[in-house]
Amino acid sequence: MLNFVHSIPTKIYFGKGQISHLAELLKPYKSILLAYGGGSVKKSGLYDEIMGILKEEGCKVTELSGIEPNPRIESVARGVKLCKENGVDAILAVGGGSTIDCSKAVASGVYFEGDDLWSMVKERKTPPKALPLFVILTISATGSEYDGGGVISNMTTNEKIGASFTFPTASICDPTYTFSVPKYHTAAGAADIMSHIMEDYFSRTPDSDLADGICETVLKSVIRNLPVALAEPDNYEARANLMADSSIACSGIPRYGKQASGWVCHGMEHQLSAYYDITHGVGLALLTPRWMRFILKKDPGCEWRFVRFAKNVWGLEGEDEHALALAGIDALENFFRENGIPMTLTELGIGTEHFADMAEKANFGGRMNNAFVPLTREDIIKIYEACL
Ligand code: NZQ
Ligand code: ZN
Repeated sequence: MLNFVHSIPTKIYFGKGQISHLAELLKPYKSILLAYGGGSVKKSGLYDEIMGILKEEGCKVTELSGIEPNPRIESVARGVKLCKENGVDAILAVGGGSTIDCSKAVASGVYFEGDDLWSMVKERKTPPKALPLFVILTISATGSEYDGGGVISNMTTNEKIGASFTFPTASICDPTYTFSVPKYHTAAGAADIMSHIMEDYFSRTPDSDLADGICETVLKSVIRNLPVALAEPDNYEARANLMADSSIACSGIPRYGKQASGWVCHGMEHQLSAYYDITHGVGLALLTPRWMRFILKKDPGCEWRFVRFAKNVWGLEGEDEHALALAGIDALENFFRENGIPMTLTELGIGTEHFADMAEKANFGGRMNNAFVPLTREDIIKIYEACL
């Protein structure tokens, strides 16, 4: 097991009715930026409930609405401007990873000196200070409610970049708010949760029992609960398990004591989103099994991990270890397909035209050289091709 240092300053309020804490959380603040996406919060009634609480507290409310899935730098700039113009002293983000990530970048961006906010993201020039950020989570997926990172897109340069901004001060995670998430985004979110776990699970460190146990438990929980949530969208237990899985998966806890693995599927997926604006979890779902088959072939020395994955996650058995390793990968691919995720780039209307550029950017600065199985630009192109 390797050394590690870890701290998560975010306070989680988990469960039905936890919005009852919102007023006390926001009490010290007078001017709130209320950030949300394309309108799901209005349809669900959550917006009215929150506005009622903010009004009762006498807060001045400024709205940053219309934050896109795969949030763009223009929305960050809009939010920073609103904060400065309205003397905002705290941000309340209501939504999923896109709204939360944009809000994190706004919270930091307010203290960024200069106008080029994209350089804050791209060159990792996050200021040491940020506005306090509060979150009300409405979809189980990214774990942005419990980490300090955010991913921002610049569609004019086809770049999507993750950076460290700020942790939420507190996140209200009420599973009932996810009852209205459509099937497509429920499944994509689940694939994202699984990917966060698998990015850490497939590591060279063989003896980090706690981390591996957490990884396997979260994966089995998603495998058990996603089909239930799709069949019964208002099944509280299924939605609650997925929400708890979401927060833990990207928290850093599942890699306690483990060698960094490079998060290569995320690196490759961010290029797909940057060029084609696709749903993050869908890109991950279709890339992951193809990446797995590729690395297993490239470095059979990693087979032991896949055997453990097949046995402990999918409950598979067999004498032939290679067959077992492949069966675990097939089980993952079938699971995604059975739960309605498009599993080819062709289904998404994506061809080979940008593969070379995407592979170049995914491996920028040789970031895949120290992956679980190191990948070259040519390897990445082959993985994209396997997804067609
Ligand atoms: O925009 P609205 O109208 O709210 O609709 C959203 C959006 O269309 C909808 N939705 C959310 N909650 C809903 C709902 N619809 C009905 N009822 C609800 N309760 O779902 C759609 C997707 O929302 P989005 O916020 O984009 O999803 P997600 O949480 O998957 O976030 C994706 C973004 O997060 C980044 C991704 O790259 C992507 O940009 N990530 C952030 C990470 C982080 N901060 O740690 C890590 C991840 O790996 C990921 O990269
Ligand atoms: Zn992700």
